[in-house]
Amino acid sequence: MNVGIDLISFYTPQYFLGLNVLAQERGVDPDKFTIGIGQEKMAIPPPDEDIVTMAASAAHPILEKVGRENIELLLFATESGIDQSKAAAMFLHGLLKLPARCRAVELKQACYGATAGLHLAAAAVAARPGIKALIVGSDIARYDLRSPGEPTQGAGAVAMLVTVNPRVLALDPETGLYAEDVMDFWRPNYRDEALVDGKYSMRIYLAALEECWKQYAALTGRKFHDIARYCYHLPFTRMAEKAHIRLAKFAALKELTGEELETEIGDSLRYNRITGNTYSASLYEGLTSLLDHAAEDLSGQRIGLFSYGSGCMGEYFSGVAQPDYRQHLFTTAHRAMLDGRTALTYRQYEDIFQLGFPTDGGDHAFAQYRTGPYRLAGVSQHKRLYERIA
Ligand code: HMG
Repeated sequence: MNVGIDLISFYTPQYFLGLNVLAQERGVDPDKFTIGIGQEKMAIPPPDEDIVTMAASAAHPILEKVGRENIELLLFATESGIDQSKAAAMFLHGLLKLPARCRAVELKQACYGATAGLHLAAAAVAARPGIKALIVGSDIARYDLRSPGEPTQGAGAVAMLVTVNPRVLALDPETGLYAEDVMDFWRPNYRDEALVDGKYSMRIYLAALEECWKQYAALTGRKFHDIARYCYHLPFTRMAEKAHIRLAKFAALKELTGEELETEIGDSLRYNRITGNTYSASLYEGLTSLLDHAAEDLSGQRIGLFSYGSGCMGEYFSGVAQPDYRQHLFTTAHRAMLDGRTALTYRQYEDIFQLGFPTDGGDHAFAQYRTGPYRLAGVSQHKRLYERIA
């Protein structure tokens, strides 16, 4: 019995800042951002959008297609939590009108959370094949203004329906795992912006990749060339290029040509390059980007996935693209969403960045910006008020 991703849908806010604009404002050569880091644009959520509305907007097309029946598990992965007690999953459960018979919970382990969700969901569905699970990763990547991390900000959400006999990607059961207590990136409860030891985080990411691959290869007997396409956690696209070059050397003693690099990972980078880091969603944004862009039909081909969450947790796993998977993608909607976005000026970006969330317990209605079908209408007596607008 196959278990895996039946449907996958991606959402990102309707506003972005061009990194050429940021480079000019910071007095940096734009090539540093576009070539050195490999990013062009970063998605900026307007004040009436948060992780819950992004997650709901990502999940919406899935529910429109398959309905809500038998969704017995809702796992919400995020590191941009909005409440210390109530799970973002409960707000999402309400907004999406999911069945009352549903186990709904929030998961956290930096950018790795949605991968934990995916594997927990696969195990639950394998144990009880009649049920479906909805997994979302939704995050806003935020660093201090003028810090090295600033050009790697971004925002977005991915929703995945996990079932038996999946139509998009059947997961292989073997995975390579690596956990280690390190301080490469973290965000104490009293801060809105993450702290990071940037160069160290890149070294740990690559070390975790090697450890996870080693286990994965030993468990499966698969070699580097048994995998047709590779997806990586994407803090920025150059990181995936570095990772893939490193893995080719480590696993196959191979120096990749530029053409091989482009074939093996190029399509998975296209969305991230114009949204920035989406933390828990980013690996799955990469998978969506690969499936939406691959010119070749990948049916029956194996896709390798490396998930990394600072702190740190890594996992190497794989899946096989299913026959006719292309008929079940939301490619047209993803492209329309990305093509229709609005560019912000630097001033607008900084104004949105500096806008604090009201904490006085009063009643605040939020101005309406362009969002997906759900928005954060305001806050009243410390309670977030959401609404569906489409
Ligand atoms: P930096 O120190 O400002 O950048 O920050 P740099 O000086 O190292 O330059 C970056 C690259 O641009 C270098 O390339 C330069 O040579 C090149 P490299 O040597 O690495 O190949 N460069 C240029 N290229 C062309 N033309 C130019 C030019 N100038 C320089 N004119 C850093 C970079 C990534 C450290 C910073 O952005 C940062 O701290 N980002 C946040 C941390 C991060 O993303 N870490 C990644 C691994 S950890 C992870 O993925 C987990 C995470 O997603 C969080 C989670 O799990 O929750 C972050």
